[in-house]
Amino acid sequence: MNITLVGFMGTGKTSVAKKLVQIMNMEYISTDELIEKKEGVSINDIFAEKGEFYFRDLEKGIIREISNLDGIVIDAGGGVIIDQENVNNLKSNGIIICLQADPDTILERMKDKKDRPLLNVDDKMAKINELLEKRAAYYQKADYFIDTSNLSIDEVVKRIQGFLKNI
Ligand code: S3P
Repeated sequence: MNITLVGFMGTGKTSVAKKLVQIMNMEYISTDELIEKKEGVSINDIFAEKGEFYFRDLEKGIIREISNLDGIVIDAGGGVIIDQENVNNLKSNGIIICLQADPDTILERMKDKKDRPLLNVDDKMAKINELLEKRAAYYQKADYFIDTSNLSIDEVVKRIQGFLKNI
């Protein structure tokens, strides 16, 4: 079984996934890292040179491939959940956990980051709110939800373990 972490940028997917693999004896895979490795350039450059549609296609191919593996924690890019084929593939061999955070927390965590092409805009807060609203229904497709705004990484991991015990 795999565990996929989805959720908006800045909700803590990478930190939580890395902690989770340590204590659960699973393997870590980041869709963004795999895409960058495959293309040999950064996500920023992929968006700038080939566009978001091209990126989403790469993302979909990666999800298709890694859904055949077992025992991995998938640190999924924030937009993975929008594509229904991705959701089906990820659920075919595991569960999807959605990390959430309020817009102020997201802004605080993302304000100095330059490697998220969708947030490289003047008014980051407006963009965050716009995307959160657009994506809300998609994120609801996850199996379990944790608001990380006021939680430490360890607390989030504990909640995930509690959820796993009960399924
Ligand atoms: C994206 C989130 C990013 C990355 C890309 C697009 C999104 O991943 O995949 O910049 O559409 O929300 P993180 O959620 O890991 O930041």
